[in-house]
Amino acid sequence: MLLDFSASISPLGPPQSIVQGLHDQMGAVLAAYPSPGYGELRASIGQHHGLGAEWVLPGNGAAELLTWAARDLADCRRVYLMDPGFGDYARSLRASGARVESLPLDVELLFDAELFLDAELGWLGDEPRGACEPLNWPALTADDGIVINNPHNPTGYLFSAESLRSLLAQGGLVVVDEAFMDFLPPERQQSVVGWVQAFPNLVVLRSLTKFYSLAGLRLGYALLHPDRAQRWQRWRDPWPVNSLAAIAGQIGLRDKAFQRKTWTWLPEARRTLLSGLQDLPRLDVYPGSANFLLVRSQVSCTQLQTQLLKKYHILIRDCMSFPALGDRFFRVAVRRSEDHQRLLTALGTILAEIQAEQGLAEQGLAEQNLAEQDLAEQDLAEQDIVPKAQAVAGETM
Ligand SMILES: Cc1ncc(COP(=O)(O)O)c(C=O)c1O
Repeated sequence: MLLDFSASISPLGPPQSIVQGLHDQMGAVLAAYPSPGYGELRASIGQHHGLGAEWVLPGNGAAELLTWAARDLADCRRVYLMDPGFGDYARSLRASGARVESLPLDVELLFDAELFLDAELGWLGDEPRGACEPLNWPALTADDGIVINNPHNPTGYLFSAESLRSLLAQGGLVVVDEAFMDFLPPERQQSVVGWVQAFPNLVVLRSLTKFYSLAGLRLGYALLHPDRAQRWQRWRDPWPVNSLAAIAGQIGLRDKAFQRKTWTWLPEARRTLLSGLQDLPRLDVYPGSANFLLVRSQVSCTQLQTQLLKKYHILIRDCMSFPALGDRFFRVAVRRSEDHQRLLTALGTILAEIQAEQGLAEQGLAEQNLAEQDLAEQDLAEQDIVPKAQAVAGETM
């Protein structure tokens, strides 16, 4: 069976509370249309964040809501997009005809020596660090838009909420995708949800598919000004969220025990995966804040990915679709420790084989060089012999 490290879905879910709830209510809800306006779901999401239901718009995953955000962003003079970034931003912005401007994020800076030291000392990357901000925030005019992802996929970098405040104050449309924010315990989150009522130009996107393992069911939501929520609602089909997803969302948000279990599990699981990867030759790991890790490799990641898949049925996420990263980076999800063990053993074996092959190739090259050098010296010696012989002959002539 395929061991999938490419999708960053929690291995702890779906929570038993959701599975049981869906089982109990399935018969009653399948035949009917979802409730118009999703009143109960919106109320429970609002309650979860201390907001009224009118500030909430549920969607068929955060991906659906990106489509509507992009439609608003298309009215902006230009839209700043982090590079590298989640591919669906570009998809939705292209589809709506938005004018995109790249905002390069310095990934190499995240991998600098000082940070490694931190990682080796056991720092988990949960603290925002203004000191090495990998991005120069643009000056936004009221006509501009920007899409921010926090924590950032694929690096796992956590921007401080404070660093985003000045962008909001500048008046442009700011879309903050917090699809992975719920993996941080509340006291460590850097969410801007609390500012939604203060800034009508702020849209926050959240996903329930990763934290609760509901990727197949599809559920996300936007927290945004009620006028914008109503406009998006008028644009889209009346029932984008199916009844089972709506039930799952309400149960999941109430399941505090599952949330606590995830917050206890993740830091330790991520730490062991990080140090296991860091111990392998030719790999560097960025200690991100989310439930995945970005790895920089001196070996081609396409080669690693192919061998892992062929020989061990393990799938890692290559970064070829992020042009800023290419073949020297890959991403892995944090999973259960037995899965980590399988990955680390397989990667260790492949890296050792590659090293041995390269060693042999280098040895072969060295031997070839030596042989060529011998030949050359012999040639030289022979060339030397001829004039000498000639000289001797001449002398004797
Ligand atoms: C950063 C980011 N935002 C949003 C999404 C989409 O989430 P959903 O499954 O809720 O549509 C993903 C999915 O991988 C993602 O990585």
